[in-house]
Amino acid sequence: MSKVAIIGAGNVGGLAGTWIAGLGLADVVLIDKGSGRAKGKAMDINDALAILGSDRWVDGGDDYSLIEDSDIVVITAGVPRRPGMTREDLRTENEKIIGDILDKAVKFVKESTAWIIVTNPLDYITNFVYQRLSIDRHKVMGMGVNLDSSRMVNQVSKILGVSRSSVKAMVVGQHGRGMLPLVDDISVNGVKVALSEKEKDIIRDRTINRGAEIVAAFGDGSAYVAPGAGIYQIVRSILTNSKEVLPLSVRLEGEYGINGKCLGVPVKLGHLAWDEVIKIPWTEEVLSKLRAL
Ligand code: LAC
Repeated sequence: MSKVAIIGAGNVGGLAGTWIAGLGLADVVLIDKGSGRAKGKAMDINDALAILGSDRWVDGGDDYSLIEDSDIVVITAGVPRRPGMTREDLRTENEKIIGDILDKAVKFVKESTAWIIVTNPLDYITNFVYQRLSIDRHKVMGMGVNLDSSRMVNQVSKILGVSRSSVKAMVVGQHGRGMLPLVDDISVNGVKVALSEKEKDIIRDRTINRGAEIVAAFGDGSAYVAPGAGIYQIVRSILTNSKEVLPLSVRLEGEYGINGKCLGVPVKLGHLAWDEVIKIPWTEEVLSKLRAL
């Protein structure tokens, strides 16, 4: 049976673990500093699994040896945004936290282990993890623009009055200030739709601002349900080798003329890794915005 370690047993990590174990994908280990939160959440989720009808198990604590033999390590630890903050404001604080986590985790992982990064500022921290681990770049991916794409799909679905499942809409670039919702490429089941400039502006703005809107509404934390689902989506794909194409933050080495940065682009996922960046013939306008990030 596959095993997924989630470092950071807050709201995002807890929900991701609930779905991963609850939907039968893998056993889960939750790690958090001070064992209480991870341990308690693991017990709580296990009790839910008896109701949900899953035979997977969740363990939790602060001992990093628990992550031994994990196929995937998800990092959700770090501080979330407070109202009025940008994701970029978290950089120094979270880089320190993630550096310490990597030092503790690295001796327990396998060469085949895939890393999913969730901590903000997402693209920056993803690149930091890649550089620090110094592993095959295909093993490190950041969960950000797949979440933003779900937010964009919701806006389009509302405006057009069609099922979410029929809407194709993608966000690329940064999971942050440099977010690029591709409003000119929106389709309904592959058929391009004619949206007015005003509608495109609404879709773009609401997609970009959604995370901050939720932070402002909560007052003491950031979104966690959709981020948890965004993690589940990647884990499902790379454990089942479904070859799904998702926009994720990956280290670019020449793709789209970009070198040495992590940015959100569509990638084909494979077994415990991303296989390749999908090259889309975007307009010069989109390309130059992407290259400027
Ligand atoms: C958000 C945080 C998770 O977009 O970055 O809600």
